[in-house]
Amino acid sequence: MKEFISFKGKRALITAGTKGTGAATVALFRELGAQVLTTARSRHEAISDESFVAADLATEEGSAIVARTACQRLGAVDILVHMLGGSSAPGGGFAALTDSDWHKELYLNLFPAIRLDRQLVPQMINRGSGVVIHVSSIQRTLPLPESTTAYAAAKAALSTYSKALSKEVAPKGVRVLRVAPGWIETEAAVRYAERLAEGAGTDYEGGKKIIMDALGGIPIGRPAKPEEVASLIAFLASDRAAAITGAEYLIDGGTVPTV
Ligand SMILES: NC(=O)c1ccc[n+]([C@@H]2O[C@H](COP(=O)([O-])OP(=O)(O)OC[C@H]3O[C@@H](n4cnc5c(N)ncnc54)[C@H](OP(=O)(O)O)[C@@H]3O)[C@@H](O)[C@H]2O)c1
Repeated sequence: MKEFISFKGKRALITAGTKGTGAATVALFRELGAQVLTTARSRHEAISDESFVAADLATEEGSAIVARTACQRLGAVDILVHMLGGSSAPGGGFAALTDSDWHKELYLNLFPAIRLDRQLVPQMINRGSGVVIHVSSIQRTLPLPESTTAYAAAKAALSTYSKALSKEVAPKGVRVLRVAPGWIETEAAVRYAERLAEGAGTDYEGGKKIIMDALGGIPIGRPAKPEEVASLIAFLASDRAAAITGAEYLIDGGTVPTV
C-alpha cells in the first residue's frame, strides 16, 4: 500500500529538535524518510553529529551558522520547521517586564524565524517549491497575563509575519503555515506540573489540573502529546497538504473557547 505521507528525498531543517516537540518532530520526519538537520545550543546523545548543528538561534550569528550549515550538509532545504520558542520572563504582570525581558522574548520567538527565512526561503523561491512551518501558540489569541504577556505578543508578531510571508511567496511555489499548540506534555511541562503538585501537596494529576484550570480548562481533559503535534506538522509539510498555505492550525484539545 502507498504510504500516506513520505518524505523520501526531502531535506528538512527543524530548529529546537533536541527536546520536547522538536525531538518528536525530528523523529517522525526521519521515520517518514526525510534527511533531517536539527539544531539547539547543545547536542542530545540521541542525535548524531552529522545531523546536528550547535548554535544559539537567539543571535544573528547563530542564525547565520545554522543557515550556512544547512546549505553545506543538505544542499538545500525543502522543509523548514521553526520549532524554537519559549518564555523565560518573570511573573508579576506587564509592569514587571523590562526592555531586556521583552528583547529576550522577541529574540527567541520572532527573530530566529525571520532571519532563517531570509536566508533560506530565497532558494525555495528559485526552485519554485518549499514549505515553511512556524510554530506559534494559542497564547497569540489567548494571552495569559501573569508571566507570558511578552511571549504571547511575540507569538502574535510571528503569526502576522508568517501570514505576510505566505502571501508573498505562495505564487512562487512556497507554502507557509502556522501550527498553534495549546499545552503540550513535554518533559519540561511534566517537571513543571510536578513542581506545582509538590507546592500544592497533590499528585501529578493534581499538578496537571492546576495548569489546565489556569488555561480555563481543556475540553479533552489532557494536554497534547509532542507526537500529536509532530503528526500535524508532518501532514502540513507533506504533499497531502499541497493546497494549504497561509493558515494557522490549532492543536489544543479545544482550549480556545471561541470560533
Ligand atoms: N510546551 C508547550 O506547552 C507549548 C505550548 C504552546 C506552544 N509551544 C511552542 O512549541 C515549540 C516547542 O516547545 P517545547 O515546549 O516542545 O520546547 P522545549 O521542550 O522547551 O525544548 C526547547 C528546545 O529549544 C532549544 N533551545 C532553547 N533555546 C535555544 C536557543 N537560544 N537557541 C537554539 N536552541 C534553543 C533547546 O535546546 P538547548 O537548551 O540545548 O538550546 C530545546 O531543543 C515552541 O515554539 C513553543 O513556544 C509549546
